[in-house]
Amino acid sequence: MVKIAPSILSADFANLAQAVQVVEQAGAEYLHIDVMDGHFVPNITIGPLIVKALRPRSNMFFDVHLMIEQPDRYISDFVKAGADLVCVHAEACTHLHRCVSQVKELGAKVGVALNPHTPLNIIEYILPMLDLVLLMTVNPGFGGQKFIPEVLPKIKRLSQIIKEQGLATEIEVDGGINSETATLVTGAGANVLVAGSAIFGADNPGQAVKDIRKAAAN
Ligand code: DX5
Ligand code: ZN
Repeated sequence: MVKIAPSILSADFANLAQAVQVVEQAGAEYLHIDVMDGHFVPNITIGPLIVKALRPRSNMFFDVHLMIEQPDRYISDFVKAGADLVCVHAEACTHLHRCVSQVKELGAKVGVALNPHTPLNIIEYILPMLDLVLLMTVNPGFGGQKFIPEVLPKIKRLSQIIKEQGLATEIEVDGGINSETATLVTGAGANVLVAGSAIFGADNPGQAVKDIRKAAAN
């Protein structure tokens, strides 16, 4: 079962609650919230206050993608603000096991994100602790970038490992996902699809959610 995770990074920030409502009504399961600090990535975006403000407006699963250095400093703020899942970048954590444990102890689900070049073996020994692995299909920092096809074999390999180990870990992909690439990534084994510009850049974002879901089923 594929889940669609619209990324509000491409939504109208002056009308966020309305944007969220549209994709929720269209059946999207996760709301992908991109947090950037201007250090780990060049861009600066959303903080815990926005998550807190959106929380009473939606019943969607809040999937918070932290593209920040030393995420351990902010994990508890995001969980308190209403994150259902907190995803940290392996490249941003010196003590990745500690960061992952911190999220779990706070009672939220936990994910680890890997940049396109980062090998899977960085999570080999903590994989059973993870609810989700986020494989970046662009270099993080901006919406609207082109899908990097070199990540496809990595999705396949991770899907194989998860099956071999009998785990329920979800594989999320993020970057350049649209109706065309959705078919490729689900074919490789991804089951949570983040899409920003393909949804909120469309004339009808609700229809775009449905189109991506349909393409993913092919
Ligand atoms: C990129 C972010 C993405 C971004 C995806 O660094 O992590 O979530 O919003 O945008 P699109 O779908 O436009 O590539
Ligand atoms: Zn993201």
